[in-house]
Amino acid sequence: IPVEDFDLVVFGGTGDLAQRKILPGLFRRYVAGQMPESARIIGAARSDYSDGDYCDLAHDAIVEHVADVDRDKLSAFLDQLHYIAIDAKGDKGWGELKDLIRSDVITAFYFSVGPSLFGDLAERLHSHGIADRDSRVVVEKPFGRDLESARALNRTLADHFDERQIYRIDHYLGKETVQNLMAVRFGNVLFEPLWNQHYVDHIQITVAEEIGVEGRGEYYDRSGAMRDMVQNHLMQLLCLIAMEPPSVFGSDAVRDEKLKVIRALQPVASHEIVRGQYDGADGMTSYREDVGDPRSHTESFIALKVHCSNWRWAGVPFYLRTGKRMKARSSEIAVTFKDLAHSIFPGDEARHRNILSIQLQPDEGMNLQVTIKEPGPGGMRLIDVPLDMTFADALGPENNDIPDAYERLIMDVIRGNQTLFMRGDEVEAAWAWTDPIIDGWEERGDVPKPYDSCSAGPEDAMMLMHRDGRRWRDIK
Ligand code: BG6
Repeated sequence: IPVEDFDLVVFGGTGDLAQRKILPGLFRRYVAGQMPESARIIGAARSDYSDGDYCDLAHDAIVEHVADVDRDKLSAFLDQLHYIAIDAKGDKGWGELKDLIRSDVITAFYFSVGPSLFGDLAERLHSHGIADRDSRVVVEKPFGRDLESARALNRTLADHFDERQIYRIDHYLGKETVQNLMAVRFGNVLFEPLWNQHYVDHIQITVAEEIGVEGRGEYYDRSGAMRDMVQNHLMQLLCLIAMEPPSVFGSDAVRDEKLKVIRALQPVASHEIVRGQYDGADGMTSYREDVGDPRSHTESFIALKVHCSNWRWAGVPFYLRTGKRMKARSSEIAVTFKDLAHSIFPGDEARHRNILSIQLQPDEGMNLQVTIKEPGPGGMRLIDVPLDMTFADALGPENNDIPDAYERLIMDVIRGNQTLFMRGDEVEAAWAWTDPIIDGWEERGDVPKPYDSCSAGPEDAMMLMHRDGRRWRDIK
């Protein structure tokens, strides 16, 4: 079903994100018939491009990032593109933008630029009468680097837009499998009764990446894994796993419940955090080489044990880990249930546990470890087997074209659905929990532990769980 007619202005329209995600995503939605023929995408940036130059840039970006491009469709899509050379801090381009924007369609402004320009853009959108009370503004992470800067950004945006107009992207929320967490939890009768401290032993959340910091060393070295991944993406996963059922799948109901989870998180003790930094191996560069700082103390890996102190989760640890240059790209959430209260099978010494693991990427699917009788005449011997389901197999080939997170999220902006976007108070609460952790290691002068590229992270991360008599799941 096509969304309503719209004008979408992408500030930073020639940048990396526009080329890798926004333009290819919009093209895919166009091909899927979701973008009305009259909708317009207006790239806005500093360079003096013509409409034609911008179409060339978009053409190349789409051909590079979209498989099997239909050339006719691409050329029709490019007809919907415009470009305006604009000065975020001056007057250039704003009159032209005002003339181009239609007043009778949905208008959305994507700030795909550094946060230092948010205020300038918002102010000019208003002073030139371009944005109205129904316009939407989309902002990207990093949303600040601590609580103070996040508050300042929220204030800047609030000076010009109502909260209902602001769409803070965390692209993990746009991933199909991440949304599936809510479907699994709240769409089945099976899991929810067990989803609490009476039945759950612990939960592991792993987001492992194979890539290093690639060309983003300068940004990354100022952030590290805690700011880059935990404060936002892992936090969102934790919220979806831990939250109470919202009364309805609506934007404020969902975000209210997520906020309660973040506010219930306990401070993390220093011995429950392990930071790591990758070494080079087999011709691969080390983190320090990648960021060009031989003394960098920024972490490219972090593991931590987190407690959510509320009625549902009291005493249940959440082990979180994420890192770059790990042995595989794999994101998984695993819920390990408690031991049976009593085993009726004499001689069965092994510990059998039900584990529900949800594979977020790649090979999206679910796996439930269950205990059954080992086949054969050997008596009542028990073994653990997986009840395995990859979504690709279960859903069939016609449903295997999973939309990219950005496609989904941009269409939600046009539809005016904020459910999968972070609210201002949520982002601030996440920083309020993150700040003391980072301050702690900065004050102590902690140095991250080295780990081999293509490994599961530093040895100390293993110890974090071994100490509790538990172990991390393999990264496969
Ligand atoms: C981004 C981080 O937000 O997410 C990157 O800045 C990281 O460092 C990326 O690589 C991971 O996203 P995905 O979708 O590849 O899991």
